[in-house]
This record gives sequence, structure tokens and C-alpha cells, in this order.
Amino acid sequence: MKIAVVGAGIVGLTTAAGFADLGHQVYCSDTDGDKIERIENGVLPYLEPGLAELVKRGQEGGRLAFGVGASTAIGEAEIVILAVGTPATDDGEILLAQLWEAADMLWPRADGMRRLIAVKSTVPVGTAERLEARIRARLPAEGGVDVVSVPEFLREGFAVRDFFEPSRVVIGSATHEAAELMDRLYRRLSATVVHTDRRSAELAKLASNAALAIKISYANEMAALSEQTGADYPDIARILGLDPRIGPHFLGAGLGFGGSCLPKDTRALVRLASEAGAPQTVASAAIRANAVLPQRMARKLEAALSGLSRRRVALLGLAFKPGTADLREAPSLRLIAELKKRYPGISLAAYDPAVDIAMKRQLPAGVGLYGSAEEALRGADAAIVVTEWPEIRKISAEDYKSWMSRPIILDGRNCLDAHALNAQGMVCIGVGRLPAA
Ligand code: UGA
Repeated sequence: MKIAVVGAGIVGLTTAAGFADLGHQVYCSDTDGDKIERIENGVLPYLEPGLAELVKRGQEGGRLAFGVGASTAIGEAEIVILAVGTPATDDGEILLAQLWEAADMLWPRADGMRRLIAVKSTVPVGTAERLEARIRARLPAEGGVDVVSVPEFLREGFAVRDFFEPSRVVIGSATHEAAELMDRLYRRLSATVVHTDRRSAELAKLASNAALAIKISYANEMAALSEQTGADYPDIARILGLDPRIGPHFLGAGLGFGGSCLPKDTRALVRLASEAGAPQTVASAAIRANAVLPQRMARKLEAALSGLSRRRVALLGLAFKPGTADLREAPSLRLIAELKKRYPGISLAAYDPAVDIAMKRQLPAGVGLYGSAEEALRGADAAIVVTEWPEIRKISAEDYKSWMSRPIILDGRNCLDAHALNAQGMVCIGVGRLPAA
């Protein structure tokens, strides 16, 4: 099949390179010429394991080509997949400017063919219908367009794996022909395909991310309760997770959820729901519960450093999760803001294996960004583990003790072996756990 993918972000590029690998002829376009040039030269603008290799394979096999803006390759495509950015405002309004712009540049020369457009971007319910009406108005009567909703569920850092082994493929369509064509596109993946209508597909995407956010916030509130009652949250999480009706995933407590999707989509769901007259009280509460986590961590730091006037604190990890250099809505940024507000004189020394010095401008002023964990930890009075990178989990008690001024670790992701570290003369305080006796 001939496919065009509009938008070369992580979702768009993975989709394009993935379908090329499955044997389709794919053209991927973006309005950002620099981004396309970098991708064509094998330098991806984001960290995504395996994606550069996949892109290269597609290019070498002659099945994957790139371009900027509109092109005849888009006109010739049987399916155009829209994977443009749909950012949201702080109060949850999803902004669709890029989607309308992409749709309007699709076919400057309408030629009477029937088209299929698949929307992969996360959008409010009803967008596929609006998009179809908008494009229809520009096409000649003998042509036509079907818009389907195929939401994406891949995770950053696992995008390639999730493309080839998706938990499910959701196809929301309004016609039998459109559903059939999308089925053909996904046939080469052995995935569970769920056919539904377009509105359900659109809502399912927001509902999925909000469900994950709710689970994480529940974990964090349960961890707080564990601390207050003298229970051990990691044990509780294990016990909960062994019940197949609850499941073991996304029960990790710590600094909460961040990234470009969970916070944004949960806010979008809450806004949509309130406009629709079906308020989502649980999802709203999940957002509020997530927002207080930096304060909780700051209070722990205060207790651990009580009486100390000069405070140098190392932040280990900045990315919103391991495996990415992404700082969008990262818990680290909320934590930094909270610490600077509480302690105006605090000295913060950060290290992240992927967030490099070039990204320093994304950090608030006054945060030192170092090239190694050792440099960030040198002379620190305490360290907070913000992102559970494997490299950070491996730092030994000897290293902490020799580098730090006082070996106090606040493990904001419960990723360290607190018992072992404490046994070696450290103070390691996790989340939802009692401090060492
Ligand atoms: C999320 C969803 O997991 C994907 O299915 C979805 O496709 C994607 O959003 C999207 O809408 O594009 P992603 O943003 O890559 O994927 O990140 P997650 O792996 O879901 O992690 C989100 C946040 O939750 C991270 O900050 C992570 O640290 C946090 N988290 C995760 C916890 O605090 N506890 C956990 O137990 C798990």
C-alpha cells in the first residue's frame, strides 16, 4: 500500500518507519524542514531506541521517503495518517491548529478520488467528524473522503516495540470500506484489533491515559497512607498487583506522572467531560493528587536536613521517565520549582544521562547541570533520585559516601535497595516506606 504520514514526531516517524518495515511504501512529511533534514541524515531529534535503525532500513530498502509540507506523494497515497502535534492549554483545551493546517494542505488539486485519512493525533471527541466535513467541503462531489480514528498507544522509549507488538489496535470508522482498508493496513501485525465508531475510538485514547494517571495517583496516595500508618507501600503494591483484576503495572509510587501525554490527556478528559455534563471527579482528583507530590518530597528533604542552613542537593535524573531526554511536564521541573520556592538559597546540582548541557535552557535558572552523577553528588548534603535510570540505580554506597558531604538519599522512585544501602551506613528514604530505624 502507498501511505503518507503527516508529522514526524515520535508517533509519526515510528508509524512511518514501522509500516515501511512491514513492506508498505511510505512517505513521511513534516512542516519543519530542519527536522526532516536531520532525520534523512540519520540524526533523530529525539532519543528513541531502535528507531534510527528502523528508519535507515526503510530508506535503504527504498520504502521510506521524507519531505517537507505538501507533495504529490501525499496525493497518491491510499491512506494518509495524521500524526501532528495536538498540544493542550493548562486547562485542558486541545489545540487543533496543526491538524486543520495539515488537512488543508493535503490536496490542493482535488482530483475526484476517494481518500482515507486516519487520525492518530490525540483529539477531542468529534474531531474525526469535523475533519471529514472540512475536507469534504474542499473536494469535488465525485471524490470523497473517509476519516477514521486510529489512536496511538505507544510509549516513549518503547515506541518501536509498541508499534510491532501493540496491546491493541483501535480502528474507529463510519463506513465498512474504511474499516476494511485499515484492517488491511494492520493485517501484518498480529494484534488484537478493536473496531468501533470514531467517537468511541477518540474517547478510548483519553480514557486510557486517564486510567493510567488514576492508577498512579492511587498508588501515591496509598504510599502516603502507608507512611502515616507505618506500613510498607512496595509490599502493598505487590499484593495489589497479584490480583489479576488490579494488575501489577502503574502502581509505582514516587514523584508522580509527567510527560507529554498523561497530564495533558487527563486534563483534556476532565475538560471535555465537564463541557459534556458528565464530570470526571476521579480523573480530576488524580490530577490534584499528582500536583502535591513535589511538596511531599520537599517536606521529606526538610526533615532529613533539619537544622542545616547551607543546602546543596543533588538531583539524580531529570527526564520524565528513563529512556528519554524528554522534559515535558517532568516531575523534576515541578520539584525544582517547589524546592526553590521553599529554600531560596538552595543549591541544586542535577545530572541526567540523557538530558545534556544543550538542554539546559529548558531548566529553570539556578540549577547546575553536570556531566556525571559524581560531579552532581560531590559535596551534596542530600540527593533525590528523580528518574530511575539504570545508571543511577547502580551507584554504590561507597560512591555515595565518598562523593557526598552527607550520604542522605531520598529515593523518589523506590528504585534503590534501601535496606542494603542503609546497612552500609547510608540514610536511604523511599516513598511509602518507613525511614531506617
Ligand atoms: C503514555 C502511555 O503509557 C502510552 O500508552 C500512550 O500512548 C502515551 O502516553 C501517549 O499518549 O502518547 P508515555 O507518556 O510515554 O506513555 O509514558 P508512561 O510510560 O506512560 O509514563 C508516564 C509517567 O508515569 C512517567 O512520568 C512515569 O514516571 C510515571 N509512572 C509510570 C509512575 O509514576 N508510576 C508508574 O508505576 C508508572
